[in-house]
Amino acid sequence: MRQSGSPPARDRAVADFAAAFGGRPTALVRSPARVNLIGEHTDYNDGLCLPAAIDLEMWVALRPSPGAAGRGGAIELVSETEPAPARVDLPPPGTPPRAGTRPAPGWAGYVEGVAVMLAAAHGDLDGWQGAVASDVPKGAGLSSSASLELAVAAGCAHVTGLPWDARSMARLAHRAENTWVGAATGLLDQLACAGGVAGHALLVDCRDETVEPVALPEEVAIVVLDTSTRRRIVTSAYADRRAECARAARLLGVPALRDAGLGLLAEGAWRLDPVTYARARHVVTENRRVLDMAAALRAGDLAAAGGLLTEGHRSIRDDFAVSSLELDAMVEAALAAPGCYGARMTGGGFAGCAMALVERSRLDAFVPAVREGYRAATGRSSCVLPCSAVAGTA
Ligand code: ADP
Ligand code: GAL
Repeated sequence: MRQSGSPPARDRAVADFAAAFGGRPTALVRSPARVNLIGEHTDYNDGLCLPAAIDLEMWVALRPSPGAAGRGGAIELVSETEPAPARVDLPPPGTPPRAGTRPAPGWAGYVEGVAVMLAAAHGDLDGWQGAVASDVPKGAGLSSSASLELAVAAGCAHVTGLPWDARSMARLAHRAENTWVGAATGLLDQLACAGGVAGHALLVDCRDETVEPVALPEEVAIVVLDTSTRRRIVTSAYADRRAECARAARLLGVPALRDAGLGLLAEGAWRLDPVTYARARHVVTENRRVLDMAAALRAGDLAAAGGLLTEGHRSIRDDFAVSSLELDAMVEAALAAPGCYGARMTGGGFAGCAMALVERSRLDAFVPAVREGYRAATGRSSCVLPCSAVAGTA
């Protein structure tokens, strides 16, 4: 996590590289976290979302493996957050990538998954050494795993001389997470981390995988609100929600909930039990909110944008049931603080972070007020981080 007083992640990565491997790195990779403004749990329903890549970032200082002029070898990584290094042996040149084997445990699984998918798509890879330093909190709903996957992909692309295309690298990283690590998430995180544009949110259509930048008005700040609660994504609750959405689509007779509007939902309501109906209502109304939010930002109508956030939080709390007491308390604390246009939980839910859109000129009053309000409600401390939208992994 970004700690005031500690050196920037970029400098920590360079220092950790020297300590682990000796000498200087020859390249640096930067990979951002993402915050999702709106469009939650819509990605695996072929729907719409509006994330932004933010300046909470992971840095990797790297160098090709010594004597690795030839292919094969290994990717050797250390990370300041992990007690054990990750070492992934690359298959000898000309060998097809392994399939059907068990992923390496822990964070090495992400590194291995990306290497396997890259080798399948582009052929043999060169080995490299790297040190990871990151300001992205793990398991907090800001996509530290996608940030890592894309950082590893960028490291491999740099060392091996592969072309970098944000959308295809996002797809590849997503495949690594789904089929190698075994987390059945949607494409939101990887598209957002890879496709970030400075000063912009990204209107993502998860059906055709297009990304359209939407400028954020100068006078508004995105503020990440970390509740200091954590829960891992690979949980049955996420899989349950996916199954409930698939069931709703089937019963409504559409290929995906993306294809249902409020009219169709009303007509088909009698076929759905109350829980399935509520899940579907969240997704259907959330897709609408994404379009309305993009329009509000383009028009500079921040009151409307804030209202959509707050409405989105109610929908994900009441209809989709993936909020938590702490996330709700954080949203309430933000809404009561000066300068707040609107707030909601962000990411998969159950724990982690909320976000707010805040009048930039009132940040000095907003930050202590939200901290105080959250502590009064929960007895917990929190991290309140004004962020900027930045460019994607490079
Ligand atoms: P998130 O919502 O943050 O993506 P996940 O639980 O999906 O949370 O992924 C977190 C996992 O990603 C960690 O358990 C770890 O394996 C990996 N990871 C994230 N950040 C780092 C890091 N800085 N160094 C090493 N591994 C990391
Ligand atoms: C994330 C998941 C994304 C998306 C999100 C909810 O944790 O990785 O794919 O489904 O939850 O919008």
